[in-house]
Amino acid sequence: MKTIKTQVGIVGAGPSGLLLAQMLHLAGIESVILESRSRAYIENRQRAGVLEHGVVQTLRDCGVGHRLAREGMVHEGIDIRFGEKRHRLDVKALSGGQCVTVYPQHEIVKDLVEARLRTGHPILFGAKATSLLALDQPRPRVRYEHEGEACELECDFVAGCDGFHGISRAAVPAGQLEIYGRDYPFAWLGILAEAPPASHEVIYAHHERGFALQSMRSPSVSRLYLQCAIDEDVDQWSDDRIWSELHARFATDDGFLLNEGRIVQKSLTPMRSFVTAPMRHGRLMLAGDAAHIVPPTGAKGLNSAVGDVRIMAAGLDAYYRRGQSDLLDRYSDIALHRVWKTQRFAASLCTLLHRFHDEPRFQLQMQLAELRQIVEDARAAELFARNYTGLPFDV
Ligand code: APR
Ligand code: PHB
Repeated sequence: MKTIKTQVGIVGAGPSGLLLAQMLHLAGIESVILESRSRAYIENRQRAGVLEHGVVQTLRDCGVGHRLAREGMVHEGIDIRFGEKRHRLDVKALSGGQCVTVYPQHEIVKDLVEARLRTGHPILFGAKATSLLALDQPRPRVRYEHEGEACELECDFVAGCDGFHGISRAAVPAGQLEIYGRDYPFAWLGILAEAPPASHEVIYAHHERGFALQSMRSPSVSRLYLQCAIDEDVDQWSDDRIWSELHARFATDDGFLLNEGRIVQKSLTPMRSFVTAPMRHGRLMLAGDAAHIVPPTGAKGLNSAVGDVRIMAAGLDAYYRRGQSDLLDRYSDIALHRVWKTQRFAASLCTLLHRFHDEPRFQLQMQLAELRQIVEDARAAELFARNYTGLPFDV
């Protein structure tokens, strides 16, 4: 069987695997990335697009921040709507100077793939990992298929960066992982429209008809979402129906009007909170969606993944540079410390903004009371802004 040897075997070329590879490269550590999909596929996959302050800094420090600095849209505030009124939260002032940047996730993937190719180190597309072997031995192995051939990657550590549906989490023996989770009784219908966003900041709209969100992908392309049923049939949503529902949910008493444009994509996003613990088993370490998922409210998925990758890279750096394994041994504890804070924020934002049809009247009043507190009480606003723009990294 064809066998490749390296220091760190990385399964998955999403943001987690690609950023880890770049950080390891900068630390002089060798890695091989296995990605089951094609380059074109991963570079065009639509995901959320809001980057925390510290994530922008991290990408810059890793040498992949040039296009982000040019094309990223820096936001100093957000618009929260309820009761047909808009309320601007100046998240920059409230968080002590932190902004968020809107930059589509697939653009980060493109920047990271390009950086990887420039290093000349291996990234194999169309390479599907099929099993992880000897995870409790000094040299674990990843078996994979590439160009019709069964191959093996032998390494010191395996980084499981293969997302929620990957094989890494499933490779941990039964009973060794604790799973925590919650599924929400609604989904998001997302559209991409060739229309300049009507507000230059992201709008979170709480409405009796259901939640709605306006974001953007560029100054001429809007990204919009509508809360809908979990089993919604996207084909039942004509363009006219989508626009009329969006207009209803974003309406304010001062006559705000969304810009309409050609809808170029429609999709359904399920909502789930999910955490697996520990995030390490033997020489396998999980990062990003392979270990945890957040509901998309607040756009924390990628931001949370970057927290993991920073800790894993720092641990591997200490191991290879100084022969110290204590940081790596504490990888799961340190990562989960931040993961749970982010989980709390994403789940509470999700619960705050969506309609729950099983408990409509009471829930609604609780939500409105909390929303009023966020816009009226400076300390509540400050806490919100610090979470929104990003809590400090532990490493
Ligand atoms: N072998 C090789 N690659 C695999 C395998 C496999 N068996 N299974 C999955 N993959 C690849 C997927 O094709 C995907 O490109 O792993 C990658 C995982 O990437 P993401 O799902 O984007 O996960 P992650 O990198 O952790 O993402 C971090 O960004 O988009 C968000 O939802 C994502 O919020 C999460 C964050
Ligand atoms: C997005 O741009 O896709 C987005 C923005 C803000 C969110 C979620 C998603 O809270």
